[in-house]
Amino acid sequence: MDEQKFYLETIGQATDADRSEIETLFYEFLELEHLYESAAELVKTQLGIYDNEFSMKFQRNPIHGIESRIKSPQSIVGKLQKKGLELSAKSAQKHLMDIAGIRVVCYYVNDIYAIAELLSTRDDFKLVKIKDYIRNPKPSGYRSLHMIVMVPVYLATCRKEVPVEIQIRTIAMDFWASLEHQLRYKTHAPVPPELMDELHELAGTIAETDLRMQDIYQQINDL
Ligand code: GTP
Ligand code: MG
Repeated sequence: MDEQKFYLETIGQATDADRSEIETLFYEFLELEHLYESAAELVKTQLGIYDNEFSMKFQRNPIHGIESRIKSPQSIVGKLQKKGLELSAKSAQKHLMDIAGIRVVCYYVNDIYAIAELLSTRDDFKLVKIKDYIRNPKPSGYRSLHMIVMVPVYLATCRKEVPVEIQIRTIAMDFWASLEHQLRYKTHAPVPPELMDELHELAGTIAETDLRMQDIYQQINDL
């Protein structure tokens, strides 16, 4: 494990006073990781339950795939630094809403809204933020539905409310976002405006194709 190696190297070079501080910090980040991983697991389990129920009732799965990631301690510290915030696990819990991230890839656009509705109308999960980049795409052309949901995690001695960022998109939106992300990070030089325009245009074509595929599905389903 990288973190363990980093920890051993850091602690090896530290003075006694620093050592106890590093140990405390390391333990706090371990606790943080456990908490956010647990919250992500709860959301994934619930999504699996909805997907299986849908499949049992309608012989079709709305969810094509689910990915999740927990922000690494390095990225957490980097984001806190960028925002000029205190560098601690407590500060990360208070200010960062995307430590636990889940990406849900659906088949059709309507599936996205159905999943979002299910997740936001439960009495245990609390919706704190929703951004609809499908109806209002980002200037890049990016489309997805983003939600921040507070998830209750029951630990041995207490209950914690943990934010989870959920990005819901179709296979087509995921295809565009993955390639566009790769293209933007491939080079450190800025992408020329004409290529940005082309990517933006392609996102529109993909969105139109998504709706046409959904229309075909509905017509076949109605037969
Ligand atoms: P962050 O500080 O980056 O989390 O910004 P934010 O809190 O305003 O969140 P935002 O709603 O902009 O969504 C952030 C996440 O959405 C990113 O980490 C990406 O996964 C995804 N995203 C947002 N914009 C784009 C885009 O133009 N292209 C791609 N490929 N992904 C995007
Ligand atoms: Mg983010």
